[in-house]
Amino acid sequence: MAAANGTHAREERQKPDIDWKNLGFSYIPTYSHVEYKWRKGQGWDDGRLVKEPYMNIHIAATGLHYGQSSFEGLKAYRMKDGKVRLFRPDKNAERMQISADAVCMVAPPPSIFLEACRRVISDNIDFVPPYGTGGSLYVRPLLFGSGPQIGLHEADEYTFLVLVIPVGEYYKGGVSGSVKALIRNKLDRAAPHGTGHAKLGGNYPAALGPVNEAVKIGYNLLLFLDPATHTHVDEFSSSNFIALTSLDAEGRRTYVTPQSESILNSVTNRTLREIAEKRLGWKVEVRKVPFEEVKKGTYSEVGACGTAAVISPVGTIGYEHEDGRIEEIKIGDGSVEGWKALFKEFSALQVGEVEDWEKWGYHW
Ligand code: COI
Repeated sequence: MAAANGTHAREERQKPDIDWKNLGFSYIPTYSHVEYKWRKGQGWDDGRLVKEPYMNIHIAATGLHYGQSSFEGLKAYRMKDGKVRLFRPDKNAERMQISADAVCMVAPPPSIFLEACRRVISDNIDFVPPYGTGGSLYVRPLLFGSGPQIGLHEADEYTFLVLVIPVGEYYKGGVSGSVKALIRNKLDRAAPHGTGHAKLGGNYPAALGPVNEAVKIGYNLLLFLDPATHTHVDEFSSSNFIALTSLDAEGRRTYVTPQSESILNSVTNRTLREIAEKRLGWKVEVRKVPFEEVKKGTYSEVGACGTAAVISPVGTIGYEHEDGRIEEIKIGDGSVEGWKALFKEFSALQVGEVEDWEKWGYHW
């Protein structure tokens, strides 16, 4: 039963019994999600917390038929002082607007995006993993056309919801692990001048089958080259591509990440660049990255980064040739000291072990 303020009466709830230290990255039921609707001529409603993880959807909803759908991923952390910190939600709100524009949807304004995150996290505060466990609360906003259309037109109704789940590592071992990425010769993630820059549901499922095949032969994820020429690095199936050079004579590294119109503008990548530059004094380059540089050993470390992947070191890249032969490229000598140094700064900031020098956190 919902209480008058829209939250569920606490006494009805059984506190979660979760093994916080052994969380993976999969769906776990929580107390509630939050749901808002936009209707033509009416604008956004006031939203409501919903207990059931189900909804009624019109059979002709554009989100189902034409992929008018976008999602986000961000995390809330239990800090050292017991408070909860949501990390840079303003950047995810901005990106949802960009994604919505790419497929003619109406995005929630940042004020509603932030309010929705705050409401659902507050209602599910028992699911924020304790400080020191390495876990976090993954926050998944979703926007889709829920109004019916059978001709190819945008919807006249949009649903915006935010659900949360407690999570641990996406790839086993986290920053101390090592994953293997595979480049398939005849597979692109996005079209040149297409929607690869937007976080749309439709950008992901084409990789599902190929990732399953890659897993069968010992790889964890796919790496895509640019769709126009297949000569430059784009991004991974789940995350952005980042690379480091070894320490130079002055003890500095260079953090390199691709510039491409067909990749997602990762909030984690942006944050790591700022930390690399401002906290560690490293150089940062956002530019086209010829795959040849990776092949010839320019980088001592390569990683996959994103909200879910955080920083997952990539130890091996398999490159599939025209004849199907896979050439394995080993990255550096296996050391991940650079990623560990970056991760230390990043996670200290998220859980409040150091001052929030850029005021990136939203608290309660
Ligand atoms: C995220 O990192 O938040 C994502 O949305 C990637 C997804 C494949 C889990």
